[in-house]
Amino acid sequence: MPEKIYIGVAWPYASGPSHLGQIAGSILPADIFARFHRMKGNEVLMVSGSDEHGTPITIKAEQENKTPKELAHHYHNIFVDVWQKLGITFDLFTSTETENHAQVAQDIFLTLLKNGYIYKESMKQPYCAKCNRFLPDRYVEGKCPHCGFEPARGDQCDSCGRPLNPWELINPHCRVCGGAPEFKDSEHFMLKLSAFQERLQAWVNNQKHWRPTVINATQRYLNEGLKDRAISRDIEWGVPLPLPGYDGKRLYVWFEAVIGYLSASKEWAAKQGDPDKWQPFWHGGTKSYYFIGKDNIPFHTLIWPAILLGYDKGLNLPYDVPSNEFLTIEGKKVSTSRNWAVWAPDYLSRYDPDPLRYLLTANMPETGDTDFSWREYVRRNNDELVATYGNLANRVLTFVYKNYDGAVPVPGEYDARSQEILKKVADTFAKMDELLSACHFKEAIWAAMTLAQEGNRYLDEKSPWKLIKQDKQAAATPLYVTIVVISALRTMFYPFLPFSSQKLSEYLGFDSNIEADGWKLRMPQPGQKLVMPKPLFLKLEDKIIEEETARIGKPSY
Ligand code: MF3
Ligand code: ZN
Repeated sequence: MPEKIYIGVAWPYASGPSHLGQIAGSILPADIFARFHRMKGNEVLMVSGSDEHGTPITIKAEQENKTPKELAHHYHNIFVDVWQKLGITFDLFTSTETENHAQVAQDIFLTLLKNGYIYKESMKQPYCAKCNRFLPDRYVEGKCPHCGFEPARGDQCDSCGRPLNPWELINPHCRVCGGAPEFKDSEHFMLKLSAFQERLQAWVNNQKHWRPTVINATQRYLNEGLKDRAISRDIEWGVPLPLPGYDGKRLYVWFEAVIGYLSASKEWAAKQGDPDKWQPFWHGGTKSYYFIGKDNIPFHTLIWPAILLGYDKGLNLPYDVPSNEFLTIEGKKVSTSRNWAVWAPDYLSRYDPDPLRYLLTANMPETGDTDFSWREYVRRNNDELVATYGNLANRVLTFVYKNYDGAVPVPGEYDARSQEILKKVADTFAKMDELLSACHFKEAIWAAMTLAQEGNRYLDEKSPWKLIKQDKQAAATPLYVTIVVISALRTMFYPFLPFSSQKLSEYLGFDSNIEADGWKLRMPQPGQKLVMPKPLFLKLEDKIIEEETARIGKPSY
């Protein structure tokens, strides 16, 4: 029975082009997972969109002299282009600016209000007398009251990760003018997180399959006791409050952004011509996975589940929240303002998508921070993609194409060694299935690469290029067995490296879309016509290491 799988991917702020940190953190693992499940014949719904509200957008828009809308649309279009070039297969990538999103967010707001989970309170709001306005959270900086880090922002501390309210900061100051803000009273709406403490605690205690970092971060907030949070702000850019008399206020970006997971599902269903089609993805036994970066953990393991519980429509809570840690660049933390990042559109203007997908998976920050360096990129491209996997495929297919009339040869009996390698193929499928199902992508891709290494070893031992000189039939068996290994590899690598897998599939003479072949070994038929192969991957020159490293941190992009 095909399963249904819901995949939510953290909504990137549309305040800059997508960078490798976001791709390794949430976008790529989600896509690998989606492709794997589609191959298994499961029905996947993978959605996300541009997070177009909030101070990251307004601050950047002010800097660039654009309206928040112009800025957000500009980067939204860049995202869509990057996903297409990088092979990220969202079923829908929308934005928080749609009418549908506003409606769903407002409906949830009103329902929570009716159910007593949102209440009004007069709250101190930072007001900068010099700038003559209320300051949005990120415009206020100061010392973190929890860990002492400086500058912590009015919404969250970058060091300890705790969500903050602006008035909690020690020595707060306005980011624009540096002056100390006053705190003026303003009426706001509070989300009663404290009311969910017990229910969330019981639920979290059952999530034995969550990653340790996710469990630990979540338990820390629960141990401290959940605090009610303001979910409205004195700003003009955002989703309006669905009540009269609050014209100068908007819903807090985090409250409405997480609602995007549901609103996007509804938008997708409507676009499919069946407005109820989202329902089975949100009810019953359907598992939902949320791919996010570690700074987003409490919003997905506590706040979003609290909203869902309070909304009380029987919607599924997250099944897993496979949060990744951070990807540093050349040993340093990403800083988009200082341009210490590798931008996806820039990468894609010079290089192919698969080598990047390969490196970011092989080096995915699943259990701790990892580093991207161009040296590693070139090394692993050349040693692993070109010399191991690409070379195995290329030398066998070229040799067979030339010596066996461009068709898959007819094998004789398998010896013990050949049987052993075929068993290894089956074992690798089983092992990868387990790893991918549990979101262990790094180990999964390595299992496939290990099979490619085995394939090379087997081929070298058998040396069919020597055998063929005496006995063409004796050479045919190991060549056939290696073609079987290659057919397996195209499937195993497909979730990670879709472009080269599809090419390899064509060289092997399979006419179908590789995804339709499913997550299993498809045996090449003896006599099956091959297509003259070309190298799957390009060898990269060492000189690009220096060229590319020199671009980082320059105000070029
Ligand atoms: N825009 C946020 C960030 O980049 C992530 C939002 S995830 C959402 O950190 F689900 F809340 F949308
Ligand atoms: Zn802190």
